[in-house]
Amino acid sequence: MAQQEDVFKKIVSHCKEYGFVFPSSDIYDGLGAVYDYGQNGVELKNNIKQYWWQSMVLLHENIVGIDAAIFMHPTTWKASGHVDAFNDPLIDNRDSKKRYRADVLIEDQLAKYDEKIQKEVEKARKRFGDAFDEQQFRTTNARVLEHQQRRDALHERFSKALNDNNLEELRQIILDEEIVCPISGTRNWTEVRQFNLMFKTEVGSTAEGASTIYLRPETAQGIFVNYLNVQKTGRMKLPFGIAQIGKAFRNEIVARQFIFRMREFEQMEMQFFVKPGTELEWFQRWKQTRMAWHQALGFGAENYRFHDHDKLAHYANAATDIEFHMPFGFKEVEGIHSRTNFDLSQHAKYSGKKIEYFDPEENASYTPYVIETSIGVDRMFLSVMCHSYCEEQLPGGDTRVVLRLPAALAPVKLAVFPLTKKDGLPEKAQEIIRDLRFHFNCKYEEKDQIGKRYRRMDAIGCPYCVTVDQQTLEDDTVTLRDRDTMEQRRVPIADLRAIIEDKVSITSLLRKIE
Ligand code: GAP
Repeated sequence: MAQQEDVFKKIVSHCKEYGFVFPSSDIYDGLGAVYDYGQNGVELKNNIKQYWWQSMVLLHENIVGIDAAIFMHPTTWKASGHVDAFNDPLIDNRDSKKRYRADVLIEDQLAKYDEKIQKEVEKARKRFGDAFDEQQFRTTNARVLEHQQRRDALHERFSKALNDNNLEELRQIILDEEIVCPISGTRNWTEVRQFNLMFKTEVGSTAEGASTIYLRPETAQGIFVNYLNVQKTGRMKLPFGIAQIGKAFRNEIVARQFIFRMREFEQMEMQFFVKPGTELEWFQRWKQTRMAWHQALGFGAENYRFHDHDKLAHYANAATDIEFHMPFGFKEVEGIHSRTNFDLSQHAKYSGKKIEYFDPEENASYTPYVIETSIGVDRMFLSVMCHSYCEEQLPGGDTRVVLRLPAALAPVKLAVFPLTKKDGLPEKAQEIIRDLRFHFNCKYEEKDQIGKRYRRMDAIGCPYCVTVDQQTLEDDTVTLRDRDTMEQRRVPIADLRAIIEDKVSITSLLRKIE
């Protein structure tokens, strides 16, 4: 566990050192849970977004995209339920004056039971060596069984309290489990209160009666309020989808784990409108489609799992998360929700507009049902970083840090180095870049020895490096070096595009999921 935490810390500092992610307003010591993407981060993020957008909009004839505004009419959030029910249960410690999410304190307590069990397992593994049977140990060891029983009982009580929205019971669980404030170490807790996560601001001048509006906490509502516009102008027939990528804002209280939980983040959401009664079939199809999208990146099927929700939002009739194995455990990266006709019906009610679909086969109108796929760009970015970061021991005793990014997502695809800064080598290197820059992102580097330049490119995950030397001037060939194998081979300049382009294009990923 501690080792995994160390790795995570290294990934966070690597992100800063190599221009991927910086704390927001860094010169003022940052702003909690807000981050900026640097020169390499923005390229990687754009590639992730492109991969998602193209898989939705290019590969599906019946999915189109939109780009709705962040500000929306305030009634939108009344209709969607966010004004009344988009809350976190908060509790304060009277001694430290620190505020916590009650559900997070309890989740941490559940994780402690898991850690205790894991410790017992690891101890026994060492003791028994090759003869160790983990399954048998977990089902028979008295201490493990006791921890497991207490964990399960807590989990059941916690789920029920959440489902019933029972704030008193959440507080009682915290007291019964003897959970202490990590700062003061005391159990001097206040009541649990609900806290709305939406950021408010005002439009218009305050003197003339400005009205309160919200920064959207999800992009989905921008799609729902445009359902009629898109369906009519695009002459869309059910089933069809609307995709959108954009910023969302939540006043998260527990901000931690770097870009995993942010106050300003980006979502890639797709609402798929279907005939009522077919939604659960589509829900299953979208689960498989989205999992295939993740797995095409080649991070290994064992690093993903579905987590079906026990607790469903009042408007949903099925929901699951796609979780990815981060250094701090399996965590949600994407949600897939069957949202029934709740949102469209609510907007019809609050706007007074008829929001329906005329089905020519049924000769009837109805409100479509919706399957939503919703993934956070930043969490996806974090999962890509975590899986790609690698400290490698080299044969000569050297180590290198290499980002084994899928080539299609890498910020820079090809680095071109002149061996020395003289004899026309820089000019020849620039000539290669001038030709190839139309096809993929290239970078020119002439500072330091070649070995150091390779390391810098490994650290940003650049899949290919090319070195221009004296021989290049004679026969128009270069040395092409592969990031992962570190193999070098001599190739004609004229072949570079053909060798590299297909491997680094988003199309290469899309072909895997088609
Ligand atoms: N429209 C549905 C919706 O917003 P959600 O489960 O609240 O559902 C969807 O969010 C995804 O957005 C999550 O799976 C996660 O990847 C991302 N997300 C949510 N809150 C986030 C936060 N505070 N920081 C970063 N990403 C977040």
